Amino acid sequence: MPSFVTDIRSLFREKDVEEMRFAFDLTNYDEVKSNAANIFDRLSDGSMPCDEPWGSDKTTLFRQWMDEGYLP
Ligand code: HEM
Repeated sequence: MPSFVTDIRSLFREKDVEEMRFAFDLTNYDEVKSNAANIFDRLSDGSMPCDEPWGSDKTTLFRQWMDEGYLP
């Protein structure tokens, strides 16, 4: 089962963290959890990250993390 610390945090590049600070902090478990539905929508429609969309492997891992209860 994926957890934020071991699997999810490292999916976000430093650039992602910096660019998205205006909306939420991608290094912070509570903020990623509370914005997860919005984040997942943008990952899966390919509109974020704006420069290099994620493949289905990373997007599926993020979805699995959500579905399995947002393990820290
Ligand atoms: C995995 C990385 C990223 C995720 C998960 C992400 C997620 C999101 C989400 C959920 C929103 C909507 C915010 C809202 O509704 O308040 C958003 C907006 C935005 N993001 Fe990102 N983002 C990522 C990377 C980036 C990068 C690398 C850039 C710039 C190069 C960027 C630039 C923007 C901008 C300018 C907006 C506002 C305009 C819009 O909604 O399209 N993001 N992002």
